[in-house]
Amino acid sequence: MNLMLRHPLPEIPAYAPVGNECALFETAWTRQLPLLLKGPTGCGKTRFVSHMAAKLGLPLTTVSCHDDLAAADLTGRYLLKGGETIWIDGPLTRAVRDGGVCYLDEVVEARKDVAVVLHPLTDDRRILPLERTGEELAAPPSFMLVVSYNPGYQNLLKALKPSTRQRFVAIEFDFLPRDREIEVVSAESGLPPSKVEPLVVLAQRLRALKGHDLEEGVSTRLLVYCASLIDAGLPARDAVRSAMIEPLTDEPDIRAALFELANAVIR
Ligand SMILES: Nc1ncnc2c1ncn2[C@@H]1O[C@H](COP(=O)(O)OP(=O)(O)OP(=O)(O)O)[C@@H](O)[C@H]1O
Ligand SMILES: [Mg+2]
Repeated sequence: MNLMLRHPLPEIPAYAPVGNECALFETAWTRQLPLLLKGPTGCGKTRFVSHMAAKLGLPLTTVSCHDDLAAADLTGRYLLKGGETIWIDGPLTRAVRDGGVCYLDEVVEARKDVAVVLHPLTDDRRILPLERTGEELAAPPSFMLVVSYNPGYQNLLKALKPSTRQRFVAIEFDFLPRDREIEVVSAESGLPPSKVEPLVVLAQRLRALKGHDLEEGVSTRLLVYCASLIDAGLPARDAVRSAMIEPLTDEPDIRAALFELANAVIR
């Protein structure tokens, strides 16, 4: 029996590069440098990390940070089990022990004490001190910390401190150039490029409104949703309404203006 069929290699998630980000990721990993990804929602940051981790054959641990996430949620804690107190590793500790990529999504959301844990891990020491157990874990060469955040909707209080920020090699993400985005949305949704094109044209017009009427422009993610709905047979106007306009705003006036714009582009 063919063993390859029983244990197929995990697929590498598709990612269309825009610049040198793949080479940069790989070089940062080789040189044991941590990476910071910034960019608007739905522009491909998470996809990029899963693509690169799979390509390099590294296990990937992802933690979505939120405003209640404390250092102990990453490092671990003592728990009572059967009358005994035992130490349970958090996801960051496990990743440091095992090697591979640890991806902290929306890192600015996390509590302040997280920075204390990240600092010795992201400079040349590459250690994770576990205060509670007294251990000091040295990260293996294959370990890489990747963090991401969206500079758009964070407030000043939540901005990363320079001492944290300057521990990372950084890549700025933005939406794909038009032709690239058409290719990606078509490949992800199954809708032919000729039918995706007007959606991307509309998305670019809507993105131009960011900062004026809209907090965030239409993401590539929403474009993929919209194209999938159309590919499944929904009328284009309905799909655009539900996947490209409604998720953007709750303001009735702005929404009405966006519908008008959409109706002019999508026929
Ligand atoms: N360069 C790309 N190549 C392939 N697919 C892409 C690319 N950019 C965006 N996509 C598509 O857009 C979707 C959203 O991307 P992703 O989830 O990576 O966004 P994100 O930047 O992590 O967003 P968030 O900040 O909200 O987490 C993906 O599921 C994928 O379908
Ligand atoms: Mg993401």
